[in-house]
Amino acid sequence: MAFDYSEKPAIEGGPKAKRTPFPARERHGELEKRYLAEVIDSDMLFYFAGTKVYELQKRFAAMYGKKHCVACSSGTAAVHIALGALRLPAGSEVIVPAITDMGSLTGLLYQGLVPVFADVDPDTLNIDPASVRRRITARTRAILAVHHSGLAADMDGLLDLGIPVVEDCAQAYYCEYKGRLAGTMGAIASFSLNHFKHITCGSGGMVLTDDDQLRYVASLFVDKCFQREEKIRNPFFLAPNYQMTELQGAVALAQLERVEGIVTARNRLGTRLNELLREVPGVTPQKVPTGSRHSYFMYLFRVDLERLGCTAREFSAALAAEGIPNEAHQITGGRPVYLYDIFQNRSAFPGTEYPFDRVYRKGDCPVAEEAYSRWITMSLYEQYAETDIEEIAFGIGKVARHFAGMRIERTVSA
Ligand SMILES: Cc1ncc(COP(=O)(O)O)c(C=O)c1O
Repeated sequence: MAFDYSEKPAIEGGPKAKRTPFPARERHGELEKRYLAEVIDSDMLFYFAGTKVYELQKRFAAMYGKKHCVACSSGTAAVHIALGALRLPAGSEVIVPAITDMGSLTGLLYQGLVPVFADVDPDTLNIDPASVRRRITARTRAILAVHHSGLAADMDGLLDLGIPVVEDCAQAYYCEYKGRLAGTMGAIASFSLNHFKHITCGSGGMVLTDDDQLRYVASLFVDKCFQREEKIRNPFFLAPNYQMTELQGAVALAQLERVEGIVTARNRLGTRLNELLREVPGVTPQKVPTGSRHSYFMYLFRVDLERLGCTAREFSAALAAEGIPNEAHQITGGRPVYLYDIFQNRSAFPGTEYPFDRVYRKGDCPVAEEAYSRWITMSLYEQYAETDIEEIAFGIGKVARHFAGMRIERTVSA
């Protein structure tokens, strides 16, 4: 299809760049229905006495070449379980990226652990090992590596620091780093099955590890520390009920059939969009380092505000007018995690500042803070066709050229 960049931008009354509607998104089908019916017919919804959650755990561990998977009720629960399984003393510091979902932090706070925020890499927005290194103290006990937007964090750089790494793979199914899958490199890893993720059972999570002891503690952590396998009801540590039900397990198990295809399609589409944006002025897609396979939970690009003479919000609005949904300033609600009220006010629990023992300040992670005024995020669904990608690229190109042209006009007339 030929695209005419001299066309007026949609915000000035021109035709929308997105000529064709986005395809419908069907995410569940016959297999999900069949497994659900099997659960109902079995009359057993409780994982411990059922079959689907066990099958899910077995299949997912095998898909990742890991020994153990423990399924649970959400990605937030999965991070909590992963940290809980490490049995870190309360008051230990855990280094986390400044840009992530609150779900990466919730369990950490419940465990009485102190989050220490590291800055992110300006080209990938993943946690920056150099910043992590600068934050290590005698109390550092773990690093939480979040594979942001479906792109693997710099795992070599993190593992080299010699501190246990927990991988938060909520956004990163089948994402690869130098030939290894994200989720197989740290001591333990967590995944999310919430509505927005590559695969979903409404809400759910999974924990992966090779370590028998970590698997055992994780299995207790899901279940109020009841030792069901040994038939002992005598909890010896504080553990929530994070059980996955057989209904969730049935849907999640069926979804496993889809995940590789979803990620392959998203990777192909994202790679194509990167190519098409290469010549667009003032727009830089998230860098995919050599050896990484991006799984595109989201598609991100940075706007060169100086070159285009606009704000990311203005860019975003012009792109939305072209029929291309997107968000500016919106990664994790428009600010790094440590600028949320809970960290600013140290208000995790009523009546105490526990577990916080420090002040989190604006300026702590400048790269992360700047990212919010420079980056645009978009969904990239596996159902998209090549035409969708071409029209998205055309829309981005049109908007970028529009702002670049306006800036030149303003400079000339000034
Ligand atoms: C990086 C990351 N960690 C944890 C979570 C929490 O997962 P859930 O919403 O399933 O609790 C999310 C969810 O968005 C996430 O993106």
